[in-house]
Amino acid sequence: MTPQLVRDPAGVRPALAGRGRVGFVPTMGYLHGGHAELIRRARAECDVVAVSVFVNPTQFGPNEDLSRYPRDLERDLALAGGAGADLLFHPDAGVMYPPGHATTVRVGGVAEVLEGESRPGHFEGVATVVLKLLNLVGPERAYFGEKDWQQLAVVRRMVRDLAVPVEIVGVPTVREASGLALSSRNSYLTPPERARAAVLYRALRAVQAAAAAGERDTAALRRAGLAVLAQEPDLTLDYLAVVDGDMRERPRVENDPMTRVLVAARLFGVRLIDNLPLFAAAEAAPGC
Ligand code: PAJ
Repeated sequence: MTPQLVRDPAGVRPALAGRGRVGFVPTMGYLHGGHAELIRRARAECDVVAVSVFVNPTQFGPNEDLSRYPRDLERDLALAGGAGADLLFHPDAGVMYPPGHATTVRVGGVAEVLEGESRPGHFEGVATVVLKLLNLVGPERAYFGEKDWQQLAVVRRMVRDLAVPVEIVGVPTVREASGLALSSRNSYLTPPERARAAVLYRALRAVQAAAAAGERDTAALRRAGLAVLAQEPDLTLDYLAVVDGDMRERPRVENDPMTRVLVAARLFGVRLIDNLPLFAAAEAAPGC
């Protein structure tokens, strides 16, 4: 079924009213199998499912890919409907940020490192739009991918700190057979480039393997991943980090399901991120 398309922010709550527990999946569109997994999960757990498609300008830096970010609303409607969405909210940027818009949400701590350092203002844009979308939709549950592990941590922290009445659910990363995490930005890559981009996943797996072999020294764990990344001459590393649940890098790691290895790199002109739990057997439980 094609979802109902709603463009007016004031129209979302009335369209969902009286239909039971609302599940919400915020996205920037150009939907793929990762987004579909979030929608299917919401479908399974909630009575009515709303998806937003909004390429949020405030989370892009001045030299980032806002203007070329891929868009295809017809395709998004079909994919969202196929995964079980009832409503697709697709507002204009001018409606989300009308003249005079002057309030932003800044999350400290978990938002200040890694992506926060590499992309100044990025998480302010994310936190602000996510809070606004949650206010417009009013869901019982909102679904976010572990693919963006730090974003998930930032959203959880914001929801806790501001007592936003919603349950945040984390959903494991959907990957291609090569291990490459699905991403709208993969559409910038040719098939051979995509195959080579799986080096990020292989590097994360190498760090996992070192941890499984008993390594607990963070620098040594990093070296295991860096050795794999060094095999790809066209890769420019931004960071490879092993962090605890608060996104902190420690000299030694603990066998904790929240310990995570994260990577960000530029490959063929595209910035890609990925992450895995450091201890594979102890995959962090999805949900709250
Ligand atoms: P976007 O990149 O479109 O991602 C929307 C949601 O899909 C996020 O929660 C993201 O983590 C999840 N996702 C993306 N790729 C995935 C994959 N391979 N497996 C599982 N989940 C995946 O993230 C954003 O948009 C924006 O920052 C947003 C939260 C919508 C705010 O603008």
